[in-house]
Amino acid sequence: MFGKIAERLAGKNILITGASTGIGYSTAKYFAEAGAGNIKLVLTARREDKLKALKEELLKSYPSIQVFIASLDVSKIDQISPFLKSLPSDFAEIDVLVNNAGKALGLDPVGSVDPVDVKEMFDTNVLGMIQLTQLVVQQMKKRNKGDIIQLGSVAGREPYPGGSIYCATKSALNFFTGALRKELISTKIRVIEVEPGNVATDEFSLVRFKGDKERAASVYKDTEPLYAEDIAELIVFAATRKENTVLAETLIFGNNQASPFHIYRGPQSK
Ligand SMILES: NC(=O)c1ccc[n+]([C@@H]2O[C@H](COP(=O)([O-])OP(=O)(O)OC[C@H]3O[C@@H](n4cnc5c(N)ncnc54)[C@H](OP(=O)(O)O)[C@@H]3O)[C@@H](O)[C@H]2O)c1
Repeated sequence: MFGKIAERLAGKNILITGASTGIGYSTAKYFAEAGAGNIKLVLTARREDKLKALKEELLKSYPSIQVFIASLDVSKIDQISPFLKSLPSDFAEIDVLVNNAGKALGLDPVGSVDPVDVKEMFDTNVLGMIQLTQLVVQQMKKRNKGDIIQLGSVAGREPYPGGSIYCATKSALNFFTGALRKELISTKIRVIEVEPGNVATDEFSLVRFKGDKERAASVYKDTEPLYAEDIAELIVFAATRKENTVLAETLIFGNNQASPFHIYRGPQSK
């Protein structure tokens, strides 16, 4: 059964945003391992030096892997279309899109949140993610094929004090993703959302607290957090189910005349 994972991934072209560190970085490595190097990766983030180091590491372990790296700031919405158009033809058709780039900034209460942080969180977590998805889904629809994997968060369902903006961005992602899944339910395009709790990645809390290492470390003190590898494993698991199987909380079927919107909760077969 597990031998089929590499078979299912064979030749697939996987685009990951925010691949320079954390969950995106681990996801790239897990896909490479699961596909035994017989995959293509398009790895993006703002820091190209980190992507370059990851590419070298991947090539060393999997000489057959094809990796294209590019600096892409997803918060610069107008750069997303030119980026996709600039992909070499071998990498131009995306089979799996992992919308991972995202961030939380600060823990300030409403009334004190810096408007610059508000904009950066919405531009990155919501507007950039939407723009990239809109463009990639167009090509997936033409081929009636593809997986869209969204990095949501429990923060998108359970708002917490100090997280007003971050929670709002992840809630927006959750609803966008739910609508998209229902729009695509009769196609072979799967839409998957992973919603982790606290994940101890190298930079997430450091970014939130703007470089304050002590404050960042205190987030994980006396807890047993998840790690980037745990989330990467889930993403690869979801992407390597049999093509007709989608992991989702709700799916809508529109074929029944008497009851055009039947909601099913749980794993489902398309
Ligand atoms: N860590 C958690 O506790 C947790 C929990 C639930 C959900 N999540 C979600 O999981 C995702 C990844 O989190 P993580 O912990 O891996 O975060 P991380 O370690 O801080 O990594 C974030 C990644 O996003 C990239 N990035 C940031 N701003 C960007 C931009 N404007 N354009 C393109 N790339 C950008 C960063 O690379 P560059 O700086 O090089 O651009 C980095 O590769 C996020 O969407 C986050 O909201 C995290």
